[in-house]
Amino acid sequence: MLSEELYKTAALLMSPGKGILAADQSVTTMDKQLSAVGATPDADTRRKYRQLLFTAPGIEKYVTGIILYDATIRNQTDDGTAFVDYLIAKGIIPIIKVDKSTKPFEGFDGEVVTEGLDGLKERLEEYFKMGARAAKWRAVVNIGENLPTIESIKFNCLLLARYARLCQEAGIVPIVEPEVIYAGTHNLAKAEEVTSLVLRTLFAVLIQYRVDLKAVILKTSMVLAGNKNEKQSSPEEVAEATLRVLEGAVPSEVPGIVFLSGGQTPEQVTSNFNAIGKLEKENGGLPWQLAFSFSRGIEQPVQEAWKGKEENVSTAQKVLLEVLERNCKADEGQL
Ligand code: G3H
Repeated sequence: MLSEELYKTAALLMSPGKGILAADQSVTTMDKQLSAVGATPDADTRRKYRQLLFTAPGIEKYVTGIILYDATIRNQTDDGTAFVDYLIAKGIIPIIKVDKSTKPFEGFDGEVVTEGLDGLKERLEEYFKMGARAAKWRAVVNIGENLPTIESIKFNCLLLARYARLCQEAGIVPIVEPEVIYAGTHNLAKAEEVTSLVLRTLFAVLIQYRVDLKAVILKTSMVLAGNKNEKQSSPEEVAEATLRVLEGAVPSEVPGIVFLSGGQTPEQVTSNFNAIGKLEKENGGLPWQLAFSFSRGIEQPVQEAWKGKEENVSTAQKVLLEVLERNCKADEGQL
């Protein structure tokens, strides 16, 4: 029965033609983004910003779920409605980021490990009661000289497996996100090799630790050369390398795969996503549903339009809906 509920949630999250908005920036990241557009970095501005996103008229046409940060899931609209209740009433599934970010991985220079398992069982129970039906945990894999190490990949995958299994026990669909970092001088072939190793290791560990793959969503980086490599990858190259990696590493029982934007510009990530959508069609479909789950790739232009000013709210919401609509079209390879 519980499994059936998880499968249902996963299927809803992966409804064709829609995506997932990642609005789960930590307080520090959100404040940096607010300051960058001249808005005041404080609790009420953060709340107003999330309100702007969630109350954009018709947003539910483009997103199945929204990823929230702990402070946001506890927050409300101006009239005192809990954000979670507001989203549920719109048919949007609240998703909670439950990891507590990364810390240096001692003994492994340049690598990090994600924290957040302590008390996770209890936190998940609380989030479930609040209305969350999916969660997200982000692991980070850096590419560099002699990096990543297999030890750090395996360690992070074990944490993802423990998190995923706890989520499923709590009736929450785990989104597992091993982000292969785009920053760096590495070429496309290196990104492909690392992403493939990470995803193969991840699924081997998830299976070993008895995570039900039918109730897991993968959130992955697209495969592309590092942002400082002299040869930047074309959308067609990104699409080919990304689908090659996914087809070789992701079991067909997994219901869906969503992409993060990872520091690509909004234009770049949408055009790469569109190339993936096109190639998917040419290949006659894939075993899993694909969708976007960008944060910066969607929100940057919205923040620039808003600038923290009340009089810009509706313009910023218009920008949000336009960007979402473009990404929904890109999903079908229709740009
Ligand atoms: O964990 C990362 C976010 O959910 C996605 O953020 O699209 O800015 O990389 P991004």
